Amino acid sequence: MQEILKQLEEKRAAARAGGGKKRVDAQHAKGRLTARERIELLLDPDSFEEWDMFVEHRCHDFGMGSQRVPGDGVVTGYGTINGRLVFVFSQDFTVFGGSLSEAHAEKICKVMDQAIRVGAPVIGINDSGGARIQEGVASLAGYAEVFQRNIMASGVVPQISVIMGPCAGGAVYSPAMTDFIFMVKDSSYMFVTGPDVVKTVTHENVTFEQLGGALTHSQKSGVADLAFENDVEALLEVRRFVDMLPASNRNKAPQRTSPDPIDRDEMSLDTLIPSNPNKPYDMKELITKVVDEGDFFELQPNFARNILTGFARIGGETVGIVANQPMVLAGCLDIDSSRKAARFVRFCDCFDIPIVTFVDVPGFLPGTTQEHGAIIKHGAKLLFAYGEATVPKVTVITRKAYGGAYDVMSSKHLRGDVNFAWPTAEIAVMGPKGAVEIIFRADIGDSAKIADRTEEYRQKFATPFVAGARGFIDDVIMPHSTRKRICRSLAMLRDKKIENPWKKHDNIPL
Ligand code: HXC
Repeated sequence: MQEILKQLEEKRAAARAGGGKKRVDAQHAKGRLTARERIELLLDPDSFEEWDMFVEHRCHDFGMGSQRVPGDGVVTGYGTINGRLVFVFSQDFTVFGGSLSEAHAEKICKVMDQAIRVGAPVIGINDSGGARIQEGVASLAGYAEVFQRNIMASGVVPQISVIMGPCAGGAVYSPAMTDFIFMVKDSSYMFVTGPDVVKTVTHENVTFEQLGGALTHSQKSGVADLAFENDVEALLEVRRFVDMLPASNRNKAPQRTSPDPIDRDEMSLDTLIPSNPNKPYDMKELITKVVDEGDFFELQPNFARNILTGFARIGGETVGIVANQPMVLAGCLDIDSSRKAARFVRFCDCFDIPIVTFVDVPGFLPGTTQEHGAIIKHGAKLLFAYGEATVPKVTVITRKAYGGAYDVMSSKHLRGDVNFAWPTAEIAVMGPKGAVEIIFRADIGDSAKIADRTEEYRQKFATPFVAGARGFIDDVIMPHSTRKRICRSLAMLRDKKIENPWKKHDNIPL
């Protein structure tokens, strides 16, 4: 018996050693943790239950028969984060470069299947040279099996990808189909074709970092939600992030008690809006002053900065926040901000997270770049996402809500449940100046007359009361009472139930 136990320990030790000391040292020298160190940081101490430690690849070609490492380049299993169940897989770059073999893929699929069955998030840590080159099509088949599960898990359990090394070629499409992608600066990259192929095909010289590094994807492409300084920061932030999410579409997000009073008045909000309607102010200040303890987990903070998205708690309940940001492009909706917010709204709706929307939007961004880039279709994504969402929707218009963008931003007409306006709100088809220049085009040379008409239009329409008179706004509220009013609305909406008509699925403009 003792001998059998010893053999087991030896096998376990072999799996834990991964690709050996030399490769582990090389991994550390690059500033990266190993697959197991990452899991240790991610999960609660001693909570990790590892599966398939003894799985080996089945390849005999190119000398692979004599090269077998138990675990085959990925560590999989489940554990807890702040006591809540999550499934994990963590690719081990020290074993065949973390490349994906048929057996490696089977291990990932096993945890994904189980996560769907029991209803718990899947966190994938990616650090891989891609398809196991020695296995050829068997590896491609493995990827496709993972892809299929990403699709089946979408909207059922939250899926989070943490990119902590290479992720290239078709391999990028698994993270791409998950809900959130976190990357590490100067250490991770994602691209469909690498710098060498790019040079051959387009003659562009580009580095790994420029082509698909964390800054590129968190600022330019919008592929990544967040970029972190190092592995440790990324994993600790994943822990904080998961805490805000429900385990699956069958559960509510965990309620957390907060010392922040639900009826807290925030007097400074009464002076947040500048008297000049063209002067910007920071919408993030409003968000942090309204949510519990000022804690706002912002997503994509450096991409499409004209809209803010992220999670917070209000009255202890997780909410998704969407807000126009007047500091950037005057808060206009454009292609990127529409895509960013639409995907976020759909995540919230999948997982029963109420949406709180703060509106200050002068319209859609004009220009050929926008029109030729299909702002029509992209803007429609956000409109569609809000309109189909059945979760509680609370909207606060702080200043401008003009034109089609008024309709889009969780208006009453898109089944907004509670729609508030501040007294400074201007809800109209367009700004007073633009409106007068169209209606009184003949008087355009007479600046005094135009100024009078503009003031008349402003008095009449640039207020919340025309919309309020029609019931499109449920109440005009004091800015300082915003938190209290949202809290009460969310409490009233807690058991909201509406359903969309039966359909196989919708056809959102893609
Ligand atoms: C098998 C691989 C591998 C792979 C790396 N290794 N990638 N083994 N299949 N795809 C092995 C190396 O042989 C090496 O083994 C160890 O991993 C570390 O690799 P290095 O090259 O020494 O590391 P580094 O210098 O850091 O470079 C990392 C890298 C490079 C840039 C990722 O390894 C690389 O270019 N790999 C090939 C990438 C690739 O072309 N993959 C296939 C793409 S096609 P030893 O024994 O020396 O430690 C694809 C299609 C997916 O992925 C399609 C899905 C639909």
